[in-house]
Formats: sequence, C-alpha cells, structure tokens
Amino acid sequence: MADPTTAEFSDLLREDRTFPPSEAFRAQALVRDEAIYAEAARDPEAFWARFAAELEWSTPWTQVLDWQPPHAKWFVGGKLNASVNCVDRHVRGPRRNKAAIIWEGEPGDRRTLTYHDLYREVSQFANVLKSLGVTKGDRVALYLPLIPELTIAMLACARIGAVHSVVFGGFSAESLRDRINDSLCKVLVTADGGYRRGQIVPLKQMADEALEGTPSIESVVIVQRGEQAMKMVHVKEGRDHWYHRLMQDASARCEPEPMDAEDMLYILYTSGTTGKPKGIVHTTGGYLTGTYATTKLVFDMKDEDVYWCTADIGWVTGHSYVVYGPLANGATVMMYEGAPDWPQKDRFWSIIEKYGVTILYTAPTAIRAFMRWGTDWPAKHDLSSLRLLGSVGEPINPEAWVWYYKFIGGERCPVVDTWWQTETGAIMITPLPGVTTTRPGSASRPFPGISAEIRNEKGETIPAGGGLLALTRPWPSMLRGIYGDPERYARQYWNKWGLGVYVTGDGAKLDAEGNFWLLGRVDDVLNVAGHRIGTMEVESALVDHPSVAEAAVVGKPHAIKGQSIAAFVTLKEGIFGTKAHLELLREHVAKKIGAIAKPDDIIFTADLPKTRSGKIMRRLLRDIAEGKAVGDTTTLADPSMMAKLKAQYENET
Ligand code: WTA
Repeated sequence: MADPTTAEFSDLLREDRTFPPSEAFRAQALVRDEAIYAEAARDPEAFWARFAAELEWSTPWTQVLDWQPPHAKWFVGGKLNASVNCVDRHVRGPRRNKAAIIWEGEPGDRRTLTYHDLYREVSQFANVLKSLGVTKGDRVALYLPLIPELTIAMLACARIGAVHSVVFGGFSAESLRDRINDSLCKVLVTADGGYRRGQIVPLKQMADEALEGTPSIESVVIVQRGEQAMKMVHVKEGRDHWYHRLMQDASARCEPEPMDAEDMLYILYTSGTTGKPKGIVHTTGGYLTGTYATTKLVFDMKDEDVYWCTADIGWVTGHSYVVYGPLANGATVMMYEGAPDWPQKDRFWSIIEKYGVTILYTAPTAIRAFMRWGTDWPAKHDLSSLRLLGSVGEPINPEAWVWYYKFIGGERCPVVDTWWQTETGAIMITPLPGVTTTRPGSASRPFPGISAEIRNEKGETIPAGGGLLALTRPWPSMLRGIYGDPERYARQYWNKWGLGVYVTGDGAKLDAEGNFWLLGRVDDVLNVAGHRIGTMEVESALVDHPSVAEAAVVGKPHAIKGQSIAAFVTLKEGIFGTKAHLELLREHVAKKIGAIAKPDDIIFTADLPKTRSGKIMRRLLRDIAEGKAVGDTTTLADPSMMAKLKAQYENET
C-alpha cells in the first residue's frame, strides 16, 4: 500500500483537475440525475429489486434479502437461469440477429455470433455436457484461450445448473491441477492451443500434465483452435473428445434448468494471504442483478454500442464484464484473443477503428504501456467511435488517467475508474458517467446501493482521511463463500470489525467531497500488471525448490506493471546463488504458478530479517525493495544485517 506519508501519495491528493461530464454525454446518458444516490440510500433493497425485476425469473422471489451476517441470501425463493437471461430472452425479441460476440483471433481470423447463434451453440454444448454425465451442481473446469467457446461453455454450464470453474490460460499445469482437485471437477474443457504474440500456448499439453493428478475428471473436451496446434495434441481414447465432433450430433434444444437465486453459478480461484488460492463462490440471482445493473449504469450501455472489455475471461473482470453483465444487457461484446502489441503496437487501436468500438474497458497497466509506446500508434487510427472509457484492476495514476482521456478518448469520453474485487462480483466504487465530476486517480463514489467507509484498525469510521476500506452493507453480487472452507470465509472477510462489515484488504483515502482514492492492498496480496498474486503463493513455490531453505516475497513499485515481485531467498548449505540458479528459480515459479508470478528480482542472502522469535519481517524487506529508508529494526534479532542487505539489493537490481 502506498504510505500516506510519501511524496507520491501527497501528489495524488494534490490532484485537483476535475472533469465534469460534457453536456453532449449527459444529454444522452441513462442516468443524469444525482438523485439516484439518495433514492438507493433510502431503500437499498428496493433499489436492487428494481434491477432484479428487469431480469427474467421463472419464479418470483418472496424476500429481497435475508441477512444473517456474514451470510446473505438475495431474492429468496426466486428462480431463474443465467443463460436464459444472457441469451434466450434476447432471441425472442429484436435482438435475435444482433451481434452478441464479435471476435478477432490474434492471427487475424474473425467470427461474429448473433444472439441466435449463441443460443444454438449454448444449447448444443449444454446437451454435450449432459451427454458426458454432467448434472446440476457438478463442477466443470474451463481452461481455454479467449475464444467464443469459453463464453459458450460458461453459459452451457449455467443452462444445466453445472458450476463452472474457469482457469486462466496463463496458469501452469500444477495450478490447473490444484484448482480441479479443490472442487473435484468432473469435466475439463480445453483447447489444442491459443495464440499469444505469434506463439502457440499449448493448453492441451499443459492440461495433459495436470490430468495425471486429477482423478475426478471423467471426460475432456478439446476445442480445435488451430490447424497447426492440433497435430501436437494427444487424444486419450475414451476420455478425450473433440468439441466440434460432439457438437455435430448435439441438439440445439435444451430446456434450461430453473435455478434457485442462491444456487451456485461459478467458482473462481483467486489469491489471498495464504499459499493456496481460494475458490470464491458466486451464486445466480444476486450476481446477475449486480453485474447487469452496473454494466448498464457504469457503461451507460445502449443497444448500438460495441463494447470491449479487454480482460481475459480467466479473471473476474472477464466473468462479470465480458460475459454475464454485457450479455444480460443484450450488448454487442468485442473479444480479442491476443496481445496488444501483436503484430504491432497499434493492435487495439486498429480493432477499435475496424469494428467501431464505442466503449473500452481496460487496465492501467495496459494504459501505461501504451503511454510508453507513444501517441503515434493511436494517432494512426480513427478512434472517433469511442464514447466512454473505463479502467479497472489496480490504482490508476493521474498521469495515465489524463493520457487515456486525451489521447484515446480525444478529450470527449468520460473515464470511469472502477474499483471492485473477485469477491465483490461487480463494480463497487465508480463514477456514473452522466453524473459524476471525475478526478484523475479517484474511483469517486460507491455505486448506488453500496455503502463504503474508511476505518482505522480499531474499527472507527474516519469521515475524511486515510485508512482501510470497508463495505458496510451486503450487496447482491457479494461472494457467498470460499469453496469448501466456510470458516475461512467468515474469518477472512467479516472478522475484523464485527460480522456485518466486509474487510476489503485495500487501503483508501476519503476526501472532503466524499471521493475515494484507492491506494492498493494492505495485506500480503500483490497486484502485478492487474493480476492478483499472493506473496505466500510465490514463497511456497520458491521453497518447493530443493535448493531453497527460506524465501520472503514482497512487492515493489513498477512503472508499468504497478507492482513487480522481489524475492529474498536463502539457499541451502553448499548451493551457490549464480545467475543460472536465479533463472532456474524463476522458471520453477513459472512451473508452479504461471509465468505471471515469476519474480523480477531475486536476491540471494545468507540471512533474512527476523524477530527474535524467528518471524520474517517482510515490512523491512518492502522498505528495501521500495528504495526507502529502512523502518524500525529494534525487534530484529540482528539489526546490523539490514544495511548489508540493502546495499546488496541496490547493487544487484
Ligand atoms: C485492486 C479485479 C484501485 C484492489 C476487479 C482490489 C483496484 C484488487 C481497482 C482486486 C481500482 C481493482 N483502483 N485498485 N479501480 N480495481 N483494484 O480480485 O487492490 O483481481 O482489492 O479483481 O485489485 O483484484 P481482483
């Protein structure tokens, strides 16, 4: 977390540029009136129920909220199906032949699926899953590139009441294996490969490695993404099936399963403060209501929009804002499989121009990379179709915000900086583009119906100033638990300030006008290029290597990625910390977790700073990695070691 005493932080608060919505934007916006905040605050349950009522229910709910802290049930007694809400109901009206998904592969191949196409494919794949023995409540793992089949498979699971667990294609075989085993998935859907920077990511090959240790998997479905990749794929007789073959024989009629509002929709694993990712559980009615309402209001979603959220579906942003939120709104969703700099650094801008993208939602990391690449790349393209810009995943520095506003949005498009988490399911703190006067670096105010506060360690509310961000009322899209670990759910999120107050793990500052300025995590969670990684996970991966005795991992500021990973490693007796060994350890982390978790810096040290009782003081290592003066060392067993370690760090990085 940025320390409120540092220069950077004071700079942030000196930010006084304000950007009210333009008259032109406001005039056409779905929400133009401040009054929505007061209305929602007066009766949050009625506010949410209004949006829930815009969805299609097969049985109406009898109670909006049953809140037994920390357990919430929303829309009690109601029944609905997520795939019906994302597909069927649009097919019955004028959106039938509207593009639901416009997809471009990295090599330049293109596909467009109308809502009717999506309806057929979702129903067919739902029947395929049934034919493989998947029934309501079964878990299905999805390990796919960013291709339409991922959306199809998610909605097909939802259609029959199966629970999907999407695993980001950048995670390693071991990560996939652990996630499959944690929730005992019955079927795995993967692909021969996907494209990234011109290379093939051999997903099935990695899946094969994972499948050696996943006894719960009965069947594997392989999507054929590439002709070339296909040749490398091993198909295990009896267990593995090609997607296209199964689809050939599948009927395009599949009765949707009526799901209870509180039936599980999906599990998504995310990093926390322990060595193992936790399976965040989302249910059906509240999650759909939250993602539907926020997509509509935050992105001012209209039928004519071409909406592009650049996140991978493997992360929560993709679940909520590539799949469920926009499709529940009947939007046209742009999807692009590959890297932003392939084949050149203007790929995003060429996509926006080619398809007339109107809404762009991306991450600060990407924006900072674009800044570095220079304005010539966007300037080559006509970006005048854009009308709204969004940012998500990490704090956005004012400089990047203003660059985005100016060079991508042409000083015409409101920028919505949206704060939320895997656990919150939907956007929690955000501007409303037709209402809010935005300030670069601030996510502004809680979405209507959401209550946020700044608290100190003791739990006292801070009316203005810095502290810990808390959410003080339940909301429909909130997580319902950690898969298989109810105790951890209560302890982790609701146990600091009383059972009704949700602990976000983020630090923030509230200004006098009621705007929130997010500062980053205050716990042992890192945010590297917008990807959540636990320091403990990386430490576990390092100590898993036979040469490593001890490891401590901290985040350090990085100009583009926001944070990067620094690891302090003690090797076992007789092993030398050569450059080659350093590479070996980085590769080991990639193998255990995925390339995104590779430490940027590894420092070999004979000693780690420990208290007399043997606890590693990561705070001091963070000071070193951040290049700051080292804090209080009086509790260290050997305070003299810090100066040496600091000098060594500065020398080697
Ligand atoms: C951070 C991603 C500042 C925050 C949606 C949070 C942000 C974590 C913002 C969740 C933002 C997300 N400003 N920080 N607009 N959005 N974060 O679960 O630290 O992958 O706790 O969800 O990202 O990451 P997650």
